Amino acid sequence: MGFPRTLFLHHLVLISLVSLTIAQPNFLGHFCSNYTSTSAYKTNRDTLLSSLASNTDQYGFYTSAAGKNPDTVYALVLCRGDVKLDACRECISNSVANLTQLCPDKKEAIGWYDNCMLRYSNKSMKGIMSGDPTIFVWNDKKNVTSWEKYKDVLEKLLENLRDKAAAGGSLRKYASGNATGPDAQNVYALAQCTPDLSENDCSSCLKGAIDDIPQCCDERAGGRVIRPSCHFRYELTPFFAEIPGSLAPAEAPSPPTSSIPSPTGSTPSPLTGAAALGNLIMLALVLML
Ligand SMILES: *[C@@H]1O[C@H](CO)[C@@H](O)[C@H](O)[C@H]1NC(C)=O
Ligand SMILES: *[C@@H]1O[C@H](CO)[C@@H](O)[C@H](O)[C@H]1NC(C)=O
Ligand SMILES: *[C@@H]1O[C@H](CO)[C@@H](O)[C@H](O)[C@H]1NC(C)=O
Ligand SMILES: *[C@@H]1O[C@H](CO)[C@@H](O)[C@H](O)[C@H]1NC(C)=O
Ligand SMILES: *[C@@H]1O[C@H](CO)[C@@H](O)[C@H](O)[C@H]1NC(C)=O
Repeated sequence: MGFPRTLFLHHLVLISLVSLTIAQPNFLGHFCSNYTSTSAYKTNRDTLLSSLASNTDQYGFYTSAAGKNPDTVYALVLCRGDVKLDACRECISNSVANLTQLCPDKKEAIGWYDNCMLRYSNKSMKGIMSGDPTIFVWNDKKNVTSWEKYKDVLEKLLENLRDKAAAGGSLRKYASGNATGPDAQNVYALAQCTPDLSENDCSSCLKGAIDDIPQCCDERAGGRVIRPSCHFRYELTPFFAEIPGSLAPAEAPSPPTSSIPSPTGSTPSPLTGAAALGNLIMLALVLML
């Protein structure tokens, strides 16, 4: 596993961001909005972000808010479903440090690592499904044989994992599994949504991601489609940890996230922290193994 390298872009507006992505190669991808923060907003943001890692519990999802209108800042973090608490917290700390350095004076930002995602915005994101921006990551060193047959097995596995993840309850919406494809090639895959989504929204987020397989992953021996509200990944070999049953409960009485005020009178937006960058923006990345 190595650093991602940018292959091509659909939007020229991203060029300056790309050079930043290369300068901080640890993010798989990141975006900043072009809305400039006030100093009050920045203070609220830094206070909020500094509390995220320690407040995130074993389920790896946390949302919070800080500050008064109009400088309220919202944050959301999600760790990959199989990541242990200490690695999850470390990933969030790194995301906070790196993302605030990459988007120092922007109101909204999103960044993805292997192990976690960090988003912050002046809009509440809780419970709102977002498929934008999307990034693709793939293995450029190796292709599978008999791709059409392999893809059928992959899609079937991912649809099964999508249904399992979506049914996962309010603490964790995550599933992993494997299947055997043509020519004795295996498929190992995981799928995950932020657990604040409804079962339907999780399912439709992952459906959209799975529909991107032809664009993302044609013939590739490994690939990922990563969105703000959901992601999946597949490889030929195992790459995830088994989660003990006790850590994967169905519904729990109270979610471990702090409750945040819903913005009143505002229309839920399907856009993300990087909304200002436009509609569906795809950043294609190559994962060098
Ligand atoms: C960014 O994250 C990496 C780990 O992924 C860490 O080594 C590095 O120190 C971070 N950079 C900053 C500026 O915090
Ligand atoms: C977020 O900030 C932008 C730019 O300043 C502003 O146009 C928008 O109304 C703000 N959104 C909310 C929910 O406050
Ligand atoms: C894998 O397949 C893609 C799509 O057909 C092709 O562009 C790429 O060069 C192939 N890569 C390898 C390593 O064979
Ligand atoms: C592959 O899936 C089977 C059940 O479908 C399971 O028993 C096995 O542990 C899985 N292997 C890995 C490495 O996850
Ligand atoms: C900021 O983003 C908005 C919305 O996408 C766009 O209309 C505007 O031109 C951008 N401003 C700059 C300075 O890039």
